Amino acid sequence: RYNIETAKSAGFCFGVKRAVEIAEKTAEENGSCYTLGELIHNGSEIARLQKLGVYPIDSPDDLPQGRTLIIRSHGVAKSVTDYIHDKGISCIDATCPFVAKIHNIVSKSECPVIIAGDPDHPEVIGIVGHCRNPDEVSVVRDSDELEKMAELQKFPRQNALIMVAQTTFNSSKWQSCIQVAKKHYTNITIFDTICSATAERQKETEELARRSALMVTVGGKNSSNTAKLAQISQKHCPVIFTQDGSDIDKAAVSELLPLQGGTVGITAGASTPAYIIKEVHRIMSEILNNEEGFDFMAEVDKT
Ligand code: F3S
Repeated sequence: RYNIETAKSAGFCFGVKRAVEIAEKTAEENGSCYTLGELIHNGSEIARLQKLGVYPIDSPDDLPQGRTLIIRSHGVAKSVTDYIHDKGISCIDATCPFVAKIHNIVSKSECPVIIAGDPDHPEVIGIVGHCRNPDEVSVVRDSDELEKMAELQKFPRQNALIMVAQTTFNSSKWQSCIQVAKKHYTNITIFDTICSATAERQKETEELARRSALMVTVGGKNSSNTAKLAQISQKHCPVIFTQDGSDIDKAAVSELLPLQGGTVGITAGASTPAYIIKEVHRIMSEILNNEEGFDFMAEVDKT
């Protein structure tokens, strides 16, 4: 008899969940709505949202007349919100409050800004776009880049400056950046703006994996945060990595689960929608043929 347990932090983080709910509600009230860029990097969730009337567009200029635009959790540059405002476009800002906090920090700072993050990531582009002086901003991917930047003496050693991190920046890379920054700059103020959602998901995954006979990790094959969850789980038990559950086969499960009972844990990456996690739970219940599976199927049949 197996007990199937899904990690509470599996799937969307607070900020993405919030943005998706805002878009769903707006589409329900107005018939449709448009998001500036895709709300989430997950094709099936985008397709699900489109069925509900939530459509992604690339530019505010593509917004059909009379419709509402949603700014996604990553946030955007100030020039973008100014443009939307000047055009009189109806807009709901679903920027994650943790990202908005970084916008607030950099927009208030009169000194140069170092951002630890990926310069091509929409969140970082948005943060750069809230800095007072774009010429006095440096985005570094890691401590090596920070080291090189410091050696070029872009910012004088003793001048005041601040450093923030992309919310999803890797925490050990961040610690190295802090060390390098403190070595080169004597008057630097560092704001730890890494969001705890990723760390919490990883911690809970590890705790669950430790007491599980098998872990099922759900997420896109190219999702690095899901791969990380699989890697963490693997330290404690065998792991099945699945995109949506359809590729889980019974033979592989029974091979990995020689024990007659125990806990099977389910965790999921940050871009995995709740309905996919539920579907994987259902598939696992069915495969393991426990009562939970039968109950769940009975519920599905009733609907
Ligand atoms: Fe998500 Fe917001 Fe954190 S979008 S990862 S809760 S910064």
